[in-house]
Amino acid sequence: MPSVFIKTYGCQMNERDSEAVAAQLVAKGYTLAPSEAAADVILLNTCSVRDFAEKKAIGKMQNLAADARKNRPDVVLGFMGCMAQSRGQELIDRLPDVDLVLGTQKFHHAADYLDEILAGHRDKIVDVAVEQGSEATIREHLLNGNAQKSVTAYVSIMQGCNQRCTFCIVPDTRGEERSRGIPDIVAECRQLVSQGVKEITLLGQIVTSYGKRGGSSRETKVEGREPEIFLPSTLDARPSTTKTPFVQLLDAVHEIEGLERIRFAAPHPKGYGDDLIEAYTRLPKLVESAHLPVQSGSDRVLKLMHRGYTRERFLGLIKKLRRAKPDIGITTDIIVGFPGETEDDFEQTLSLAREVEFDNAYIFKYSQRRDTPAADMPGQVPQKIREQRNHRLLETVNGIGRRKYDAFVGRRTQILVEGPSRKNPARMTGRTRCNKIVVFDPAGREHRGQLLDVKITRAGSFTLYGDPAILE
Ligand code: 5AD
Repeated sequence: MPSVFIKTYGCQMNERDSEAVAAQLVAKGYTLAPSEAAADVILLNTCSVRDFAEKKAIGKMQNLAADARKNRPDVVLGFMGCMAQSRGQELIDRLPDVDLVLGTQKFHHAADYLDEILAGHRDKIVDVAVEQGSEATIREHLLNGNAQKSVTAYVSIMQGCNQRCTFCIVPDTRGEERSRGIPDIVAECRQLVSQGVKEITLLGQIVTSYGKRGGSSRETKVEGREPEIFLPSTLDARPSTTKTPFVQLLDAVHEIEGLERIRFAAPHPKGYGDDLIEAYTRLPKLVESAHLPVQSGSDRVLKLMHRGYTRERFLGLIKKLRRAKPDIGITTDIIVGFPGETEDDFEQTLSLAREVEFDNAYIFKYSQRRDTPAADMPGQVPQKIREQRNHRLLETVNGIGRRKYDAFVGRRTQILVEGPSRKNPARMTGRTRCNKIVVFDPAGREHRGQLLDVKITRAGSFTLYGDPAILE
């Protein structure tokens, strides 16, 4: 059978999608190639969030195509995911060696389409259409290339986003919000836990909107009864109306025996209600970690971005989270150089970063995306200033991060051991509950999948080093 190599760009959702496509192909008899040079099929799973991400994937495909033309004319080349969705046929017009363009609602057709192309029944396939119910089609997992072995797993709970932030292309690439039903998600999580998974990250483009609109969850409505899809019967006695569907989902997943930890990404500050903050104190498996994208510290810019909250509301949220869980690790996303951002606006972002003291922040230089409102806004910020602001903010954020990581040295903390370290397979890595990576020397013992106490001995740049804490 042909072998496949999948290269993934972008976010955790893309990683999850690649994993599902790989699992689907393996189930059909394909093998996974160890490198692109050894593969009969090469798929690039793409990201469109910034121009840079698109350019990288296009450049990669140009190289692959040139090599294929020269040395391996039979190799099948495909784009899938977000850029495939937003550019469609245009990609083949530009790169005629590409055989397959698979949109974000079509991952489950990957194997069938590749079969057709490899059998010579079809030459090129472009499928980027909308498909009803596609949010619930991806269930297969291939964990670390080995169905038995992974300790952590991603579970997709919804697709799409209706927020329409003015900078963002995601509503176009991922479509309207559609949520899977709770029983369906819980069944997938249970299956993973039965295979040895200990930590699950629930994924969606805007998980705080989970269950609020449309999707296959509605289809499971029982005749003559209120839809109970978001209301698992085992919940506590509080009226379910006081809990958002997302928190109801957390409650349901939390009940899975054998599951140790729950994470989620990404929430939106607008939908981050008190019930979610309270969930951190109520659900011990929900670990003390929050990724909460702020994007800017200036109210004026937040408004132009159509974010739906103010600086004050964001700061209030952080305060509440820290009151609920003082050790919570908080990370964020920030865009610098949004159209119209003045020096004063930018300084407000700097001051917000100083005030919050994020454990880490992912900083993005604003990138014009086509068909987004911000692309045509007046006051586009010169590239040079975007770069300077990026640099200044990075210095601030890294300095704070450094201090936060240093503060762990000497402390004892619990990690979930995930497996060998990528950089040095003789060592193991795990994560703290607040989502910090810890590298340690296993001293010959098998710790994978265990919750282990370690003593932190050293802090590197966004990595901690520890020693398993052997009795006091
Ligand atoms: N330019 C720069 N960064 C962007 N992001 C989304 N769209 C853009 C854009 N047009 C960033 C946001 C988001 C993260 C995933 O990517 O910070 O939270």
